[in-house]
Amino acid sequence: MSQLPHHVAIVMDGNGRWATKRFLPRIAGHKQGVDSLSRCVKACLERGIAVLTVFAFSSENWNRPSEEVSGLMDLLVFALAREVPTLNAQGVQLHFVGDRQRLSGKVQDGLAQAELGTSNNQRLIFNVCFNYGGRWDIAQAAQKLASRGEVITEQSLDRAMALAHVPDPDLLIRTGGELRISNFLLWQAAYSELHFSDKLWPEFDEAALDEAIAVFRARERRFGQTSAQLGGQNHRHKEKVA
Ligand code: IPE
Ligand code: IPE
Ligand code: MG
Repeated sequence: MSQLPHHVAIVMDGNGRWATKRFLPRIAGHKQGVDSLSRCVKACLERGIAVLTVFAFSSENWNRPSEEVSGLMDLLVFALAREVPTLNAQGVQLHFVGDRQRLSGKVQDGLAQAELGTSNNQRLIFNVCFNYGGRWDIAQAAQKLASRGEVITEQSLDRAMALAHVPDPDLLIRTGGELRISNFLLWQAAYSELHFSDKLWPEFDEAALDEAIAVFRARERRFGQTSAQLGGQNHRHKEKVA
């Protein structure tokens, strides 16, 4: 049996469909999505996962109707006020990953305060990707190096990326049934194991997380090598997934 994933990344998709199915406004689905995320953080803590990275708002989500975009901004401020004391008590270190320039002063202050207030916590590193895009990250890293006159190598780019404070994700989950990356962790997911769940994000519970972890543990990660080179561990993919 292989190890628990050290770093789990999640594309939290399906909030809108969850709400529409219930004849509710889409923002009700996003609210439910915040509750699902709190549950997920707690589950990751209980399982000993060290890093959790979630996709909360993409560079492309600005193209949604303006009332949904402003609803999501308000929800972020509300969620921070409600959740940061709990996150602190749980030992969670919050990071916001993404381009903050387009966010309002109020949102930017909220993010900075939440980061500062949780910066000494050590149990779980929790990255919230907000106004984030994988292409934005690669471009901003390259720009940073160019402005300093540094040579661009895989290592230097890696260090200039917005997620340089954590190792690459081991397991990347997408809920909501779509089989695509949608501009999430393009650089960092090079060798992540992918898991797609049909559950809509508000319905993604502890059992669904455990299933994703079990599937991950049954995989053989070869990183370009052959199964034999890995020391005869090629039985893993045949292991029964509970
Ligand atoms: C994901 O849920 C949350 C955000 C993109 C902010 P969606 O809002 O994309 O939900 P669906 O895909 O429309 O159901
Ligand atoms: C990806 O979901 C972004 C987030 C979950 C924040 P989307 O709903 O925006 O992705 P697409 O548009 O279906 O590819
Ligand atoms: Mg979606």
